[in-house]
Amino acid sequence: MKIGSNLGVPPRIVVLTGAGVSADSGHPTFRGEGGIWEGRRVEEVATPEAWSSEPALVWRFYQERRQRLAEKEPNPAHMALAGMEERLSDAGVGFCLITQNVDDLHRRAGSAPIHIHGELEVLRCEICGEKVRDLEHLDPEVFVPCPECSHKAMRPDVVWFGEMPYQVEDVFRQVGNATLFLAAGTSGVVYPAAGLLQLARDGGARTFVNSLDEPENLSGEDEFFPGRAAEVLPELCDRLAQELGA
Ligand code: OAD
Repeated sequence: MKIGSNLGVPPRIVVLTGAGVSADSGHPTFRGEGGIWEGRRVEEVATPEAWSSEPALVWRFYQERRQRLAEKEPNPAHMALAGMEERLSDAGVGFCLITQNVDDLHRRAGSAPIHIHGELEVLRCEICGEKVRDLEHLDPEVFVPCPECSHKAMRPDVVWFGEMPYQVEDVFRQVGNATLFLAAGTSGVVYPAAGLLQLARDGGARTFVNSLDEPENLSGEDEFFPGRAAEVLPELCDRLAQELGA
């Protein structure tokens, strides 16, 4: 696994993915249908306040999602991005993949993304900071204790509403240095991720956008490729790799 392999080298292309890229694998998007769970909005469950007042409810919500990871497979969009990374790497061209998705599909396709909103398969201890990659303990009714300090319940290592995304400084630096920027499958409404497109434009990058619907942050300067990521990205990634000489 190439965790962090995309850090430290000034990239030529930076890709930002959102829920739309995993939609073709069967993961529901946030702003489409299915935003209600047990009569509650996702925004009510995915918060530090909910975890502190109703931990059993929040845990059940995330354990159900963690269980479902194994049922999904990477789709041609994930594969196209992993293939482009390999091609660019062989040609010595920088590449950085940033994802807002908390599923493991990019990783299973062979990529090493920066997970700015965390990862469902990782658990984190709020007391000692220990992190474990764990998809074995999936019982919705049983908390997982911390193996380091024995705190009784680790939390999912995902960024909740009101929390700061991960590696924001790295991400801003990568996007600021991009010559090409591609945003795929994201509605462009959740900041700071939604601001990356403008940051790339400000840095002089050519900007490409794929989504089913026009994202909120789309501008006339962007080249927009409407459609399903699984259909659009294989051809688009091929074209971008060629433009970068790979
Ligand atoms: P959204 O659900 O807001 O947006 C999904 C986008 O994908 C929309 O623009 C759809 O048009 C598009 N889309 C749907 N199906 C698609 C497909 N098959 N191919 C291409 N595009 C498709 O998801 P995000 O923008 O990822 O944050 O949401 C951003 C953040 O909001 C999430 O990471 C999450 C949520 O709050 C946290 O949990 C912190």
